[in-house]
Amino acid sequence: MENDITAIPRIGDDAPAFKAITTEGEINFPDDFQGRWIILFSHPADFTPVCTTEFITFGNMTAEFEKMNCQLVGLSIDGVSSHIAWLRTIEEKINYKGMKNVKIHFPVIDDVGMKIAKTYGMLHPGESNTKAVRAVFFIDPEGIIRTILYYPMALGRNFDEMKRILIGLQTIDRFKVALPADWKPGDDVITTSPGTMEKAEQRANEEEAGMKCYDWFLCTKPLPLEKIEKNIRR
Ligand code: BEZ
Repeated sequence: MENDITAIPRIGDDAPAFKAITTEGEINFPDDFQGRWIILFSHPADFTPVCTTEFITFGNMTAEFEKMNCQLVGLSIDGVSSHIAWLRTIEEKINYKGMKNVKIHFPVIDDVGMKIAKTYGMLHPGESNTKAVRAVFFIDPEGIIRTILYYPMALGRNFDEMKRILIGLQTIDRFKVALPADWKPGDDVITTSPGTMEKAEQRANEEEAGMKCYDWFLCTKPLPLEKIEKNIRR
């Protein structure tokens, strides 16, 4: 496992493997979650306000991510006892925007030694040497990193965007399409580019049913929400 603080895994890389202590017991990452999507995310510290709003939101949405065959895994440079105390406080005391009694049942990693944070490029010294920034890694069922997000410590993440990314990646894989700017499930999708001059010519002349071409290299087609839901939900 790499431990250079400047190392950042890239999209398309194998997700670096590690063993860790978590609030749900020891895990072997990513092997324990083989065949499932994983969202591995870091937060700066337990018992901090922005992180608390994020955890209550993520905890509240866990069932939606599970329906999409996705395992959530949290991490901070705190010990497991601190994580447990914080998660109990969230469940017992916090009522945020109508979300209350939220039980967090995804694993939260104890990374006091910073080994995993360093391996995954979660420590950004310009922001902090001792706390992870808000990193998010989307890892596919084959253990490949597919999307990476980084947010600074003071900015809470957009969880609807995380859901959109996950559905987007699953849609790309399942339907072999690309997704345009601001795509939402149910919007038109981009068909793959024609690979030959002949196909480009064909496309320029005759549009497939429902296909809309803005030019020979930019064509969209409908992909109804029901089709996505039927194919990517467990
Ligand atoms: C927070 O979660 O509130 C937070 C954590 C570290 C720095 C700034 C904000």
